[in-house]
Amino acid sequence: MTPLRKAACIGGGVIGAGWVARLLLNSIDVTVSDPDSEAERKVGEVLANAERALERLTKAPKPAAGRLGFAARIGDAVADAELIVESVPERPELKRAVYAEIEAAAAPEAIIASSTSGILPSELQAGLQHPQRLLVAHPFNPVYLLPLVELVAGRQTAPETVERARAIYRDLGMHPLVIRKEIEAFVADRLLEAVWRECLWLVKDGIATTAEIDDAIRFGFGLRWAQMGIFETYRVAGGEAGMKHFIAQFGPCLKWPWTKLTDVPELTEALVETIAAQSDAQSGQHSIRELERIRDDNLVAILQALKDQDWGAGKTLADYERRLHAAAGRGAAEVDTSRPLRLYEATVRSDWTDYNGHMNESRYLEVFSEATDAAMRFVGCDQAYVAAGGSYFTAETHICHLGEARLQEPLYVESQTLSADGKTWRLFHRLYSARSEELLATGEHMLLHVDLETRRVASAREPVAGRLAALAAAQAGLPQPEQAGAAIGKRG
Ligand SMILES: NC(=O)c1ccc[n+]([C@@H]2O[C@H](COP(=O)([O-])OP(=O)(O)OC[C@H]3O[C@@H](n4cnc5c(N)ncnc54)[C@H](O)[C@@H]3O)[C@@H](O)[C@H]2O)c1
Repeated sequence: MTPLRKAACIGGGVIGAGWVARLLLNSIDVTVSDPDSEAERKVGEVLANAERALERLTKAPKPAAGRLGFAARIGDAVADAELIVESVPERPELKRAVYAEIEAAAAPEAIIASSTSGILPSELQAGLQHPQRLLVAHPFNPVYLLPLVELVAGRQTAPETVERARAIYRDLGMHPLVIRKEIEAFVADRLLEAVWRECLWLVKDGIATTAEIDDAIRFGFGLRWAQMGIFETYRVAGGEAGMKHFIAQFGPCLKWPWTKLTDVPELTEALVETIAAQSDAQSGQHSIRELERIRDDNLVAILQALKDQDWGAGKTLADYERRLHAAAGRGAAEVDTSRPLRLYEATVRSDWTDYNGHMNESRYLEVFSEATDAAMRFVGCDQAYVAAGGSYFTAETHICHLGEARLQEPLYVESQTLSADGKTWRLFHRLYSARSEELLATGEHMLLHVDLETRRVASAREPVAGRLAALAAAQAGLPQPEQAGAAIGKRG
């Protein structure tokens, strides 16, 4: 299947903006249509959160971001899109009106993916000219970090639509779960509704506060659920006798009063007030943006821990990183090596700036270190090469600061090989602002090739030796940078 190149996001609220971020950061061009006059700002804020989270989540080579556009008319947004993501409010008549506008302008084979949390796809596709191209792709907030997307076909959805969607979401680093039969709220929200209903009863009956209920989740079974779900966890809980023993032991409880509360407590003004006041007491000291960052950092930490175990959502992350590495390797073959290589881009994040309002000096080293990693991968010093026992260590670094990199400044690095032999590699980076093209800093690094077993300098092996020699030869004619070889206190 050909990779996705262009998408439209209809609705750029909490979920729509999350989709925008996941798509853009995977190199897909996205046009957004949303009548909210604040949509551009809101999408920009979610995108900034997503960039920050992705930067922390993975050191794998990130593809260049796609282009972001906004269109006042839905028709203009969807005209050349291959995937149309609908994330407008949860009202069937509104969603159907949006589909009519989409179908008037979109290619008939473009997929329409609804983010609905619970409306049946058969209901949504009724009345469409091309109902076979609609399915539900139900994501979870934050869409740019959580891998699960439930794919639900309606009665008229073509099997090819589901297969294409499955491939698209897998390429986006997600875990597409194809739901076997459509049912309101699908699988995950059906589970969440059941838990949510019990939570409302517990608050209403004065048994626990919102904070205490959250503690009951996050200090215990919430940790289990992030890695094994419920059935595997209960299998373990059944001991050596396993699942049958577990059911024999706890099955009768299902008939005890534990789970009698299947009806929904009425959301009276008093109950809503109680929940809101308890929630304020629990979390009111943090702004929503702060809570988002805390949530994202915790999710990143969990995903990375699971990646180390090659398990669950961490396995999805590891697979995604393998694809990013492979794509970076394929891209390397098409690059003109006679010029400095542009292999690394970044944006100055809020936690990179210091009290002077510009990028802290330690971050320059971080950026140059990422650029060095990208250059190493370019010559074939990738995960597989390192796993086989070879790598480069930095023996010396000289950074020259020439301009200010301010918050949100888009940056890119150009890397020039000044010299290389079998064991050494003199690499020179120039850091530019992508906005003004101003040269902000340079970094000169002496790298030594090391045998990771003996921890001693050793000659590079193939394919690195050959590729680096070819790169050094291709760049030998480039002018020597004026900052190269400079001593401290001297410019040039
Ligand atoms: N919030 C969640 O946690 C969550 C999770 C999964 C799925 N969903 C689903 O995602 C969808 C969107 O939910 P949300 O939470 O992002 O809502 P939201 O209110 O944050 O965003 C909806 C956006 O749609 C825009 N909109 C309204 N009419 C429009 C139109 N005619 N054309 C284009 N845009 C229009 C609004 O201006 C708004 O920006 C819903 O179907 C919801 O069930 C929500």
